[in-house]
Amino acid sequence: MGSFMYIAILLAAIISTVHSCPPSDRAALLSFRAALNESHLGIFNSWKGNDCCHEWYGVSCDPTTHRIADINLRGESEDPLFEKAHRTGYMTGTISPSICKLERLSSLTIADWKGITGSIPSCITSLPFLRIIDLVGNKLTGSIPSTIGRLSRLTVLNVAENQLTGYIPRSLTNLSSLMHLDLRNNGIYGNIPTNFGKLRMLSRALLSRNKLTGPIPYSISYIYRLSDLDLSLNKLSGTIPPSLGKMHVLATLNLDGNHISGTIPPSLMNSRINILNLSKNAMEGYIPDSFDEKSYFMVMDLSYNKLKGSIPKSISSATFIGHLDVSHNHLCGQIPEGSPFDHLEASSFTYNDCLCGKPLKPCR
Ligand SMILES: *[C@@H]1O[C@H](CO)[C@@H](O)[C@H](O)[C@H]1NC(C)=O
Ligand SMILES: *[C@@H]1O[C@H](CO)[C@@H](O)[C@H](O)[C@H]1NC(C)=O
Ligand SMILES: *[C@@H]1O[C@H](CO)[C@@H](O)[C@H](O)[C@H]1NC(C)=O
Repeated sequence: MGSFMYIAILLAAIISTVHSCPPSDRAALLSFRAALNESHLGIFNSWKGNDCCHEWYGVSCDPTTHRIADINLRGESEDPLFEKAHRTGYMTGTISPSICKLERLSSLTIADWKGITGSIPSCITSLPFLRIIDLVGNKLTGSIPSTIGRLSRLTVLNVAENQLTGYIPRSLTNLSSLMHLDLRNNGIYGNIPTNFGKLRMLSRALLSRNKLTGPIPYSISYIYRLSDLDLSLNKLSGTIPPSLGKMHVLATLNLDGNHISGTIPPSLMNSRINILNLSKNAMEGYIPDSFDEKSYFMVMDLSYNKLKGSIPKSISSATFIGHLDVSHNHLCGQIPEGSPFDHLEASSFTYNDCLCGKPLKPCR
């Protein structure tokens, strides 16, 4: 009986050792933690003991390899830890390159901590299993690692709301699995790569609020799955590729707040696009007379451009126009009547040369 107990205890000990994380992964995590400072919530208080696969806050392991697969640390969360503290997270420090020793890491989320500084360690591009990089909402500086294109499994790259600078790396367009790219609200400059259209799996490309210059690459219209393209509030110039209006699932096109010129492609008016913002550019010429029953707009904002002529008659055949803004242009003539217009207010049409009719003053 005694020896049976002994064997059972020994077995249990062996099993728990086998199922706990390898000492090298544990050491890498502890050195990652040492470069960070979170004192309000105590998220790292659970990072103790040998078994980093169990009960370590925000850490999970692959059930077969028992190697660390996910680091998931979010500063805004519904976890009881946050509810108890009645606050969102705040963390300072840097992202240590020691995470690059976690060879089987698949998901790296260190999001919304507001105070994490330093750069994105470039060695993360040597982690072949990485699928998710989510570092949104910190104070990271430096540029996106130039070898980012090596991460052939990467599906999500979210580094929005940081202070990154530098160019979009040339290798980025090699990310053939990328579905979600979010670079919003940084200081990234230079051109959007001409071969951006190589990102065939991309469904959301959010590059708003940076310092991007140059043209909108024509190749973007080859991205079959792209549903959301936000290039607003940059310094882009050139014209709008008409092929954007022929895309199969593109629903949101935000190009507002750039230096885009030329005329509005007629294809944009009867496409799948239902949120279109071209406000605050240098668009000229007429509003295309190409609306039809396929035209369905939650938002169409063409304000603050140099558009002239009248509002085209075909706009009355649109199925729906929820919010229209053509103010601050040089439009003239009678505002068309019809169901898409019944609910619009004068502010949609003000500051033009000589528009008239409901909801403005009657034409004379
Ligand atoms: C961590 O932050 C707290 C509060 O801001 C500070 O008092 C402490 O010195 C910091 N510790 C390290 C190791 O930076
Ligand atoms: C992109 O991938 C191709 C094929 O693997 C490679 O030849 C090329 O050097 C890569 N481009 C960059 C900029 O890394
Ligand atoms: C369109 O973009 C402009 C400029 O960035 C912004 O002020 C406006 O709110 C946007 N329109 C809508 C309806 O979101």
